[in-house]
Amino acid sequence: MVDLIYGRGFTDIIREMPFYLQMFKNMINIKIFHSKPAIYGSVDVNNVCNLHCSHCYWWLNRKNDEQDLSIEDWKRIVKEKFKKQHIFVVTLVGGEPLLRPDIIKTFCDEMPRRVCVVTNGTFPLQRFENLYFYWISLDGTEEIHDSIRGKGSYAKTRKNIFDYIEKQPKRNGKPAWKDIWITMTINSLNYSTAIHLAQEWRGTVNKIGFQFHTPFTKDDPLWLPFGDIRNKVVDEIILVKRSHPDYIANTEKQISLMKGNWGGIETTPVQCPSWAILSLDHMGRVKQPCCIGSANNKGLKPLCEKCGLGCYSILVAQGIKGQ
Ligand SMILES: C[S@@+](CC[C@H](N)C(=O)[O-])C[C@H]1O[C@@H](n2cnc3c(N)ncnc32)[C@H](O)[C@@H]1O
Ligand code: SF4
Ligand code: SF4
Repeated sequence: MVDLIYGRGFTDIIREMPFYLQMFKNMINIKIFHSKPAIYGSVDVNNVCNLHCSHCYWWLNRKNDEQDLSIEDWKRIVKEKFKKQHIFVVTLVGGEPLLRPDIIKTFCDEMPRRVCVVTNGTFPLQRFENLYFYWISLDGTEEIHDSIRGKGSYAKTRKNIFDYIEKQPKRNGKPAWKDIWITMTINSLNYSTAIHLAQEWRGTVNKIGFQFHTPFTKDDPLWLPFGDIRNKVVDEIILVKRSHPDYIANTEKQISLMKGNWGGIETTPVQCPSWAILSLDHMGRVKQPCCIGSANNKGLKPLCEKCGLGCYSILVAQGIKGQ
């Protein structure tokens, strides 16, 4: 199958024509009438993770006393929140979503080919019949990744990726490697390994995407400050993008935004269209101000003016911006 846009083939595009028309309508409403419809969704499918990565926002606002929802609860939420609002693609996050394959399957059944799963990849990767693709988090080459995510985690994830690619059969004529997209969150510890990571996986996986660490405190040492070093990392990614445009998932415009503040003032989104992604936590509550925030008003908030998130900046790069 030929990839036309963002990993979708010709038959996908024909089948999904109503969604593209809806998207077109949304764009008109946003640009001309300044309305703020949610276009995408993000869901923390569970309240559990097997890792405790040093950069992770999710642990900052996690509460111990809350359970996961049932499959019936999620079916209702999909219907009421996502289908009714014609949300195109939903990204399942967590916690660690692969600890709840039953919820992933429910989303894939309800919204076929419109569900991405972000995972640490330390559990075997299942082939969900109607999955769009996996985003697999690798935060640099092996040594630095392990220093952030725990010893041995890179080797586990690498094995699971290779097992998936080598053992899973084609699906609708599509080989398994097409389902694997890597995501790296660049920070002050791992920035020098970004290009090495891209080189290591080129030819094995479908795509790699980069975003930058978003801090929650002003003195977070993991934030890579604006300036020469950060600019150089972005410029190097752009060079790889120019020679391998299909492999690097970021657009040039989007990754260039990462050189400075594109998001807002302190903890308030200004240019960032945080409304465009309906973000739910593991109880189905809306997170504020965005998918890395919290449903609790008193929760810790991300610093918009130092934000490095890919999913919102890609919208800004497409001209969807503002509160
Ligand atoms: C919270 S994790 C949940 C999914 C899964 N457990 C994983 O690690 O991929 C989702 C993504 O957010 C990224 N992330 C965690 N903390 C971040 C931060 N402070 N800024 C930007 N991205 C962050 C992770 O690296 C991961 O790619
Ligand atoms: S595996 Fe994902 S959710 Fe778990 S601690 Fe790491 S980044 Fe956070
Ligand atoms: S994505 Fe970034 S800029 Fe937008 S609301 Fe979240 S932290 Fe703020």
